[in-house]
Amino acid sequence: MNEVISNMFERRTIRKYTDQAVTDETLEQLYKVMESTQSWANTQCWEIVNVVNPEIRTQLQATLPKQNPAYRATVDAPVLFALCAKKGTSGMIGDSMPTIHEDWYMYDLGLMTQNLCLAAHSLGLGTVVVGWFDHNKCNEILNVPEGTEIVSMIPMGYRNQKGAMPKHKPFASFMHTDTF
Ligand SMILES: Cc1cc2nc3c(=O)[nH]c(=O)nc-3n(C[C@H](O)[C@H](O)[C@H](O)COP(=O)(O)O)c2cc1C
Repeated sequence: MNEVISNMFERRTIRKYTDQAVTDETLEQLYKVMESTQSWANTQCWEIVNVVNPEIRTQLQATLPKQNPAYRATVDAPVLFALCAKKGTSGMIGDSMPTIHEDWYMYDLGLMTQNLCLAAHSLGLGTVVVGWFDHNKCNEILNVPEGTEIVSMIPMGYRNQKGAMPKHKPFASFMHTDTF
């Protein structure tokens, strides 16, 4: 199995991290991966915040319900990214959004997320995608400009847990040939 494919099988959600700092060099590698992500007509609607300030981290944590399993990770992780999207660009053909899905920003950010999580895994880092929180409050805390919205947060650090492979539907249950 080649390295990319084994990375895809081995990556797991990680919510516990060691104290080891993530170097600027490592972060820069991840930024390069993020900037190379594919997107609708190469529109690249993403805006990313690297949240370093512990006070802002605490404010962001308070927007998660306490039952969110990633609650602690938002403050404990050595690195926390907030992934935001400029709306009204992805999905455009000329002046309109002609598909039934309209704005494709969630899709493009999903692609960046997976690139980031796989690259982080290959560098020994663990990640968790956090989507369950109060997005409006986060927009305020991060001073996100009008027309742009936070989509997810991604805490990241050197793994301090193994992470278990969850059950997956076998591909035969969702693959179809020709039509449904
Ligand atoms: C879009 C998205 C949102 C998620 N939101 C959360 C979250 O708010 N809190 C959390 O603990 N995990 C969250 N997760 C992690 C999932 O629970 C996890 O990916 C899933 O259980 C599969 O496990 P795996 O990543 O190890 O394959 C999210 C994952 C995705 C893709």
